[in-house]
Amino acid sequence: MGPDPLDVSIVGGSGYAGGELLRILLRHPRVRVKQVTSNRCAGQPVAVLHPNLRGLKPLSFVRVDDLEPCDLLFLALPNGASMHDMDGWMAKAPKIIDLGADFRLRDKDHWKRWYGSEHARPDLLSRFVYGVPEIHEDEIRQANYVAGPGCEAIVSILSLFPLVKHRLLKPSPIIIDAKMGSSQAGRTPSESSHHPERAGAVRSYKPTGHRHAAEIGQELGGLCPNLSLHISATAIEMVRGLLVTIHAFLDDPETDEKDIWKAYRREYGGKPFVRIVKQNQGLYRFPEPKILQGTNHCEIGFEKESAGGRLVVLGAIDNLVKGTAGNAVQCLNLMSGFPETEGLDFPGLHPV
Ligand SMILES: NC(=O)c1ccc[n+]([C@@H]2O[C@H](COP(=O)([O-])OP(=O)(O)OC[C@H]3O[C@@H](n4cnc5c(N)ncnc54)[C@H](OP(=O)(O)O)[C@@H]3O)[C@@H](O)[C@H]2O)c1
Repeated sequence: MGPDPLDVSIVGGSGYAGGELLRILLRHPRVRVKQVTSNRCAGQPVAVLHPNLRGLKPLSFVRVDDLEPCDLLFLALPNGASMHDMDGWMAKAPKIIDLGADFRLRDKDHWKRWYGSEHARPDLLSRFVYGVPEIHEDEIRQANYVAGPGCEAIVSILSLFPLVKHRLLKPSPIIIDAKMGSSQAGRTPSESSHHPERAGAVRSYKPTGHRHAAEIGQELGGLCPNLSLHISATAIEMVRGLLVTIHAFLDDPETDEKDIWKAYRREYGGKPFVRIVKQNQGLYRFPEPKILQGTNHCEIGFEKESAGGRLVVLGAIDNLVKGTAGNAVQCLNLMSGFPETEGLDFPGLHPV
């Protein structure tokens, strides 16, 4: 008999991120899903809300008040909700992965500036590791508390990290043009998600001032002083998926594409979930979120403009997997000493 499975519970299991956690964890060979909360749907089988999980395991939602102790707790709550009950969550489990924004920023003043409220637990900010396994693997292995990054943030950070670290780019300006699907807004309906308003949209919803700029700046700013990053976000006709098209300028316009390849290989060689995609032939020459649906991969591609030194970098993920739940399970694997890829080997679908 092998070792006992890890008992995990999910707070906020009726949401899209919680549903995706369930999809992955119910098939994870070393994990047992103990409880899943939803106050709104307490008592209902999880498959009523997540019909793709029918027949996997008989499991019903419980109220948050009925949560029992477990080995690791996922918090999949709206931004700003988890920090108010941290003592309670910490009493339930020795390890926590929070998918929300509450513990991503290390500076409480940054929280106030970007989220508009006082941080309820600034004393805990330094205890959370920012959950990008490709950059913080050793810290995540040692961590009890991990903050899952925002989805625009993780794809932008992974796309830019090697280039910034190896000083291949001019620090300013770097423009991130993000195109995202509707599932990013979560399950709760709103006027903007109402079908006649959302269908067919190409809606510029955050041309400036996107909150994830704070996380990206926090991660990359230390590698290169005077880094100036700007995001513009557009909602497009897609349920899952996120593509960033990043416009940057090479520090030395003569830098060869081979040098760019080299920087990516140095940082991501051997990293199981990052793929550099830049093909000469075929339809999918550059990263495209459509074929990453359901996978934990981040694909990154690039092209240098023939004159002027502009570098266009393309990064694609499934916002609900590498952008949230899959990345969180990758962190769980590292925190628990499991193989990093356990439970995350779904290769995607084609055609889709
Ligand atoms: N969606 C994405 O693509 C994405 C990407 C990256 C990160 N994230 C992060 O993941 C988190 C969850 O996002 P989501 O898209 O899954 O949201 P969602 O679909 O709106 O789900 C929110 C969940 O939180 C529960 N909830 C709400 N307020 C609560 C409270 N005060 N106490 C206990 N439970 C509460 C809801 O349960 P009830 O059934 O009881 O209402 C629901 O299960 C967010 O912080 C988001 O930033 C999401």
